[in-house]
Amino acid sequence: MDAQSVKSDLVLILDYGSQYTHLITRRIRQLSIFSLCVSGTSPLKSITDLSPRVIILSGGPHSVHAPNAPSFPDGFIEYIGKNGIYVLGICYGLQLITVKLGGVVRVGEKQEYGRMEIEVVNNGGGDVKGLFGNREKGDKQVVWMSHGDEVAQLPDGFEVVARSQQGAVAAVENRARRFYGLQYHPEVTHSPQGMETLRHFLFDICGITADWKMEDVMNEEIKVIQGTLGPDDHVICALSGGVDSTVAATLVHKAIGDRLHCIFVDNGLLRYKERERVMDTFEKHLHLPVTCVDATEQFLSKLKGVMDPEMKRKIIGREFICIFDEFAQELEQKLGKEPAYLVQGTLYPDVIESCPPPGSGRNHSHTIKSHHNVGGLPKDMKLKLIEPLKLLFKDEVRALGKILNVPEGFLKRHPFPGPGLAVRVLGDVTEGNALDILRMVDEIFIQSIKDAGLYDSIWQAFAVFLPIKSVGVQGDQRTHSHVVALRAVTSQDGMTADWYNFEHKFLDDVARKICNSVRGVNRVVQDITSKPPSTIEWE
Ligand code: XMP
Repeated sequence: MDAQSVKSDLVLILDYGSQYTHLITRRIRQLSIFSLCVSGTSPLKSITDLSPRVIILSGGPHSVHAPNAPSFPDGFIEYIGKNGIYVLGICYGLQLITVKLGGVVRVGEKQEYGRMEIEVVNNGGGDVKGLFGNREKGDKQVVWMSHGDEVAQLPDGFEVVARSQQGAVAAVENRARRFYGLQYHPEVTHSPQGMETLRHFLFDICGITADWKMEDVMNEEIKVIQGTLGPDDHVICALSGGVDSTVAATLVHKAIGDRLHCIFVDNGLLRYKERERVMDTFEKHLHLPVTCVDATEQFLSKLKGVMDPEMKRKIIGREFICIFDEFAQELEQKLGKEPAYLVQGTLYPDVIESCPPPGSGRNHSHTIKSHHNVGGLPKDMKLKLIEPLKLLFKDEVRALGKILNVPEGFLKRHPFPGPGLAVRVLGDVTEGNALDILRMVDEIFIQSIKDAGLYDSIWQAFAVFLPIKSVGVQGDQRTHSHVVALRAVTSQDGMTADWYNFEHKFLDDVARKICNSVRGVNRVVQDITSKPPSTIEWE
């Protein structure tokens, strides 16, 4: 689905590098309003092509006085005025509006960071309500501020609507020109009335219609897929067993039926009974046409003796591509024509174009997560891509999956890395029966987490097989057996993570169960490092 094909009113966020920018997009979508985020320095045409009803200029770490401070393109103000577009500037965004329209921004006498009280000093009169809706003059609220610079003089036609305790400008508006500004972050939970203000701004002031519903997204997407593909075009999709590829394939299947051909590869690095479990979901619940390839031997023979984690990843990536190529060739023979398209479960955070932080050395290029594909796609690939989820966030993909009848338990599965257990058996994965031991330990750990009702509060939990042995005593016998580590983390997006603090009784039970039922393990340890400094996976 392309942004232009969406019929809903669009709230476009111009990103100036605030860590909260994507949160604004998500918050607005939670109000059932379609919202997208593009770089704050995008050319005018890429903004006008999207025909937004409202534009929000995000916060950012820059000073408007810094050389090369990011700004909207030439012609932006004229475009806004001519098309009746509403604009809300947040923090840096407000300062940008101020200087561009002839006001003054200066380095604040008192810099304001963190929790702060603001007071409404003027909120319109009579029937015309200002930025704070029904809140009266004198009304106070706590907000989350983060700024060094402050607005010293407003451009002509602007009024101060709220001030901070220190007297700094906290909110402004120019109703006639449809410009509004907040010197704090309404999108964060530390601004408890922030959502109320955003809601009032978007619905009551801008008159936006809330019609971004997953059912519509699904129907729209199906039409787009049907319109893109020729009547005889065939499509292939590699299912990883994860949520994204499953939802993407289910959607495409709904659109084109059995012209979709899926492949699921058992590379011998899957979890306990994973192949049976996911194939069951694909076939019995989702009725997807899936070819299951058992490539255990092919992968494990290539991984024999390989210790280096990056080398493991490369080998696995290469083998995946080989199997995939063979699948496409077999399909071509069967169908008498080449498949034309490849489905990818790419999500919005993977394609989002952001304003990078200063000093990062990056410019506004697409930030593609390096982990996204196991081996990357071949450079000379002839297949065209279909990425039906590329405008959606993870929670929206789950909501879409729910409408498509993907079982709830499947949608809530923890992420699992493409290289599978190869990055959880440290060292040579083919050594002894490391993979089997790990599968059993992992299953006990995960099942215990589920039984304790903790699974949904944890981002990811798993066991790691360590390449060392330790001395133990089991049943009056001295043992020299394996050590396994348990890892469970909470996280929003996998980029940073905290270790999960289980109750001691839970850990005690799990460790006992593991040592009593998995032969070859006599010691269990827990990983209590966050990310950073560690990563979530051990390799
Ligand atoms: P790290 O270990 O980098 O992991 O903190 C962050 C998230 O990414 C997953 N991960 C991978 N996913 N291929 C993948 O598809 C990989 O090579 C890979 N390495 C890590 C990891 O499970 C976590 O969710």
